[in-house]
Amino acid sequence: MAEHQDETRAAYDGVVELYASMFADRLETRPFARNMIGAFAELVRGTGNPRVADVGCGPGHLTAVLHDLGLDAFGLDLSPAMVDHARRAHPALTFDEARMEALPVEDGALGGVLAHYSMIHTPPGELPALLAEQARVLAPEGLLLVSFFGTDAPEPVRFDHKVAPAYSWPADRFAELLAGAGLVTFARLLHDPSSERGFLDSHLLARLR
Ligand SMILES: C[S@@+](CC[C@H](N)C(=O)[O-])C[C@H]1O[C@@H](n2cnc3c(N)ncnc32)[C@H](O)[C@@H]1O
Repeated sequence: MAEHQDETRAAYDGVVELYASMFADRLETRPFARNMIGAFAELVRGTGNPRVADVGCGPGHLTAVLHDLGLDAFGLDLSPAMVDHARRAHPALTFDEARMEALPVEDGALGGVLAHYSMIHTPPGELPALLAEQARVLAPEGLLLVSFFGTDAPEPVRFDHKVAPAYSWPADRFAELLAGAGLVTFARLLHDPSSERGFLDSHLLARLR
């Protein structure tokens, strides 16, 4: 495992309870994210393959949302403490420790992958391989919804996220990388949540060609 992944894992292991208490109900006050996830779920159901991975699931709250939206959802995360928490919080659902870079999923098995702010810590040079791995597990026409901190800068910008170093991305650059992995971005929602950092909340919905 790369050193930065070790650091990310240790950092999230150390903030599980705080993170879970801050984010468990977050979607209720995030109408844009909630509706993008709703659209993703509807489109995945339409593919006829409801099996979906929530990669970098953290405490599992969005895995539960996907389940409630009629999907056969399971969660994967690098942090064992996050996985423990998710299992306790959602005992009816399946959560496993795994890296997004090497998903324990067969080729073409999934109708969808949700990556909600979980690729933010990946160094830009590693993102093409990470996206190719998500494409590998998608069935033809499968969907990826990826959410991240957006920037108006022309290239990704490293910043000191509260948990671990992270990168904000211009949506166009991210969409180019998705295209390189065979994923066509067909919907994008960028909005200013008036955060003190001034990031754009960015959600890209892509389909495997
Ligand atoms: C900002 S949190 C987002 C959690 C959840 N998706 C949410 O939206 O609340 C990032 C999560 O991604 C996980 N993560 C980061 N890098 C990962 C990787 N390479 N493989 C798997 N999980 C990773 C972290 O452990 C953490 O739980």
